[in-house]
Amino acid sequence: MHKKLLIPGPTEVSQEILNEQTHPMISHRDKEFVELYTGITTKIGRYFELPSEVKPTVTTSSGTLWFDIVGRSIVQKKALACVNGAFSQRCAETLRACGKQTDFLEVEWGKAVKPEMIAEKLDSNEYDTLTVCHNESSTGVRNPIAEIGKIVKENYPNIIYAVDAVSSMAGDKTLPTEIGCDIIFASTQKCFALPPGLAVALVNDKAIERAKEVPNRGTYTDMVEIFEFEKKHQTPFTPCIPLLYALNKRMDLLLDETYSRVYQRHLHMAQYTQQWAKKHFEMFPEAGYESITVSCIKNTQSKNVKELNQKLGEKGYMISNGYDKLADKTFRIGHMGEWNLQGIKEIISLIDSIWGL
Ligand SMILES: Cc1ncc(COP(=O)(O)O)c(C=O)c1O
Repeated sequence: MHKKLLIPGPTEVSQEILNEQTHPMISHRDKEFVELYTGITTKIGRYFELPSEVKPTVTTSSGTLWFDIVGRSIVQKKALACVNGAFSQRCAETLRACGKQTDFLEVEWGKAVKPEMIAEKLDSNEYDTLTVCHNESSTGVRNPIAEIGKIVKENYPNIIYAVDAVSSMAGDKTLPTEIGCDIIFASTQKCFALPPGLAVALVNDKAIERAKEVPNRGTYTDMVEIFEFEKKHQTPFTPCIPLLYALNKRMDLLLDETYSRVYQRHLHMAQYTQQWAKKHFEMFPEAGYESITVSCIKNTQSKNVKELNQKLGEKGYMISNGYDKLADKTFRIGHMGEWNLQGIKEIISLIDSIWGL
């Protein structure tokens, strides 16, 4: 039996979207491709209200490629990487693996990264790049990226501010102009509710200009090349065309629902889940910084999550245990993409009946 996914990604993909991937193949250098790709980037631009200096691009990769792109194409001398969970840790380590000096601004898992912590570090004038994870899927913490962006824009105009919005973009608030970021990226298997395999990134001219000054950008990670091809409405390398058809459809659906209603839907699912979690358990993130796409719940009753998932599986659902060092201490419910409040109520009432809550 197919298990409907309420894990922090991949999330459930509708049949309508799956069907989009069965179009006959086209050449990625043909006019038909240019039309498809122009349609997608135009719709991304409308959905995320992009001004002319912010360009969208779609890479055939999972989101992690963008850690490498930031490492290879953006960091000049030294980066400050905010680390408050497993994914931001991986981002920080990737920058180092790209051979770039990187300081880790480490914050306890479960706590958010605050603007004043960043300002204290950036005041040293050592850094040219800042990375922050918007929605730490490992801890369910939602970092205040717009407040951070405000201080970066006002006080450190030469910094390139890159945001990992892998598990929040197209669910939570991620308008580049509201955040004041220079780069923001996401994977398609999360809130975009597509199969894995593409990443969507929104990048401003300032970041593209920076990349031109950074040597040894690699090939797949060369951001300058990516945006040279964007001018022709193409990608530098052969993209996953079936997924692009699916993304084209997804952008139609997102535009129909509208950005603000998509956000409200995710907020309502999160609020319902949090209310339930607080009644029986505790939320893992510090109060006020809870993700609206992934709820990370402290397993204060030491319930058996593996057994729960087996029973949920028999009913056709799957949630997630904790991540990494939180594996046994927490469990996570991913409420993103196509899910709605009704679906979340159903799964929670099933959990209630299995656990006798
Ligand atoms: C916040 C965050 N960043 C990065 C990643 C890595 O994304 P991908 O698996 O698409 O490379 C994930 C995956 O779960 C994530 O949740």
